[in-house]
Amino acid sequence: MFEINDNYLKLPGSYLFSTIGKKVNAFTQANPDKPIIRLGIGDVTLPLCPKVIEALHSAVDEMADASTFKGYAPDLGYEFLRSAIANQDYRARGVEIEIDEIFISDGAKSDSGNIGDIFSVNNKIAVCDPVYPVYVDTNAMSGRTGEYMAKEERWSNVIYMPCLEENNFAPKLPSETPDMIYLCFPNNPTGSTISKEELQKWVDFANEKGAVIIYDAAYEAYISQENVPHSIYECQGAKTCAIELRSFSKNAGFTGTRLGFTVIPKELKSGDVALNSLWARRHGTKFNGAPYIIQKAGEAVYTEEGQAQVKEQVAYYMNNAKVIREGLADAGFRVSGGVDAPYIWLKTPDNMTSWEFFDYLLERANVVGTPGSGFGPSGEGYFRLTAFGTYENTLAAIERIKNIK
Ligand code: MLT
Repeated sequence: MFEINDNYLKLPGSYLFSTIGKKVNAFTQANPDKPIIRLGIGDVTLPLCPKVIEALHSAVDEMADASTFKGYAPDLGYEFLRSAIANQDYRARGVEIEIDEIFISDGAKSDSGNIGDIFSVNNKIAVCDPVYPVYVDTNAMSGRTGEYMAKEERWSNVIYMPCLEENNFAPKLPSETPDMIYLCFPNNPTGSTISKEELQKWVDFANEKGAVIIYDAAYEAYISQENVPHSIYECQGAKTCAIELRSFSKNAGFTGTRLGFTVIPKELKSGDVALNSLWARRHGTKFNGAPYIIQKAGEAVYTEEGQAQVKEQVAYYMNNAKVIREGLADAGFRVSGGVDAPYIWLKTPDNMTSWEFFDYLLERANVVGTPGSGFGPSGEGYFRLTAFGTYENTLAAIERIKNIK
């Protein structure tokens, strides 16, 4: 008789954004006349920029011609894209990353979930609290998180690093020693960031303790402040302790197109085993490669025109962030984030729990957000709104929220 991976049975409820989707569907079915504004999941609303569309069309034409048709993509991704990344995301910022340290994928969500394949289940993970739920859920699926303690809403074998108002929603170095540390800056969900000096402390800590940092830099395009690093490799010694995850979803609107990459420097080792070679082995065996057409679209992002066009999109969303931040502050909410990140984190009013506020906002303003407690116990009493809506919807949502307050 076959057995299942019963770690899955330990997972509480469904994936956060699936739970929200079900609740919103039930609401719209019961109230078909109420127009919903969705500022919940961080999904983009602007279409792909013209340079990307042009590249997609031209790549489709190549696929239609026997002389330019492409079959399987190279294991690590096409060199044209990895070179553009090495040059523009890294060399331009003074960081040398070799192209065989870059692995093209279908996005940072997949990579942040799959990266656990190359680590022992005996490793102890440390996560920010609140945190993007994929890190904890996928470690739970692998059996790395112990038992779920429903009352405490925590896993028994996870180091939670609270990110609270008093520490500007950034974690402190843990007193317990973790093996794997998940960091995401600019942060999802709180929209917080840390300076290069602060990040350097994490790198030094990881090197000293023999831990690995899994650094999610999916939101780096939203950084506006000078002293906030775009990559962990801007810190000294990061290549011996950090993996970096990047995405085309938030900076170039590829949420439905799918493209991302992971950087694993060759210096990153456990004993004398390079993690780069383990991930290359895993990538070759378990991943079919991002499609040629999509990688050409990714390459277009790095052209001069592409860069100008995606920067405009980022500026558009950041203007939404300003509308949300300032509008809610005017209405008396305690807000943070939204300066270097497309997420605005707010304290729920009148001691409402995060889910109470979710229902309240849905029913009274027909606005969808994300309950802070869905990201972890320290998110209780908080709520996340995204800046990825259209400008018109963002304005309308804030007006509606102001009017119910
Ligand atoms: C979010 O809303 O937290 C993100 O959009 C989820 C994701 O990128 O997978």
